[in-house]
Amino acid sequence: MGRSKISVRGLSKVFNPLKGNPVVALENVNFDVEEGEFIAIVGPSGCGKSTLLYMIAGFIQPTKGEIIVDGRRINSPGPDRGIVFQEYALFPWLTVEGNIKYGLEEKGLDQDEIDEKVSKYIRLMGLEGFEHKYPKELSGGMKQRVAIARTLAYEPEILLMDEPFGALDAQTRELLQEELLRIWEETRKTVLFVTHSVDEAVYLSQRVIIMTCRPGRVKNTVNVRLDKTLSREDVITSREFVETRHKVWVDVREEVMKHYCIVEG
Ligand SMILES: Nc1ncnc2c1ncn2[C@@H]1O[C@H](COP(=O)(O)OP(=O)(O)OP(=O)(O)O)[C@@H](O)[C@H]1O
Ligand SMILES: [Mg+2]
Repeated sequence: MGRSKISVRGLSKVFNPLKGNPVVALENVNFDVEEGEFIAIVGPSGCGKSTLLYMIAGFIQPTKGEIIVDGRRINSPGPDRGIVFQEYALFPWLTVEGNIKYGLEEKGLDQDEIDEKVSKYIRLMGLEGFEHKYPKELSGGMKQRVAIARTLAYEPEILLMDEPFGALDAQTRELLQEELLRIWEETRKTVLFVTHSVDEAVYLSQRVIIMTCRPGRVKNTVNVRLDKTLSREDVITSREFVETRHKVWVDVREEVMKHYCIVEG
């Protein structure tokens, strides 16, 4: 096995440490991600999943511990890491094409390269015919496709995805899962994918990290060994899928129950 692509070591995050109500969001989180791995992260609401992704993205700083990417400690955002946010974060004043182009122009690519990449990702995400529409004219599913296309067009080595399909209807969600898997198989990016859906986590990933309720720690890691050459139907009815899903679900349920005890008690 090669060097880790991402290494999270002793990571803790306390919000408002100096005010009256400090929030310990994460406490001593440790895990490694290999290059090209697809990792899913699940855990109760408020356990620090978004916080973890934002720290890997470099938007916020850890209170303790460190994040190593490609052997270097990171402390700011970089073009090697692309994030798709929990809420669609499109520029409302730009068209679909303009939104996808934005990062590429920032990156300083020449116009031909930009046009080529924009049309490639418009095609890959099924956005043809919508190039000149504005976000407000799009459905939720389309907006999320644009957000994903925009991040992919930038071609980061690491994709950080924070519940990217959470707000979508079941059919659109399944379609985008298939598209994401296809793109991952094609490009072998390193993916960290946060979701509340155990089915989605097991279906997409090679490894599921289950987090405890707040303060978030790594509760367990479950390897997924599915035959991805099979159809969706065959995968989700396979014994391996059903057993893995159950394993993950038992851990998640335990943490979600604890979470409610704290909230209610
Ligand atoms: N900027 C902030 N200031 C203070 N507290 C914060 C801040 N951001 C997050 N928190 C707190 O940190 C904890 C973790 O939040 P985070 O958004 O990372 O959870 P999450 O696991 O992504 O939840 P969800 O599944 O609901 O998206 C929560 O208790 C939240 O209230
Ligand atoms: Mg979140």
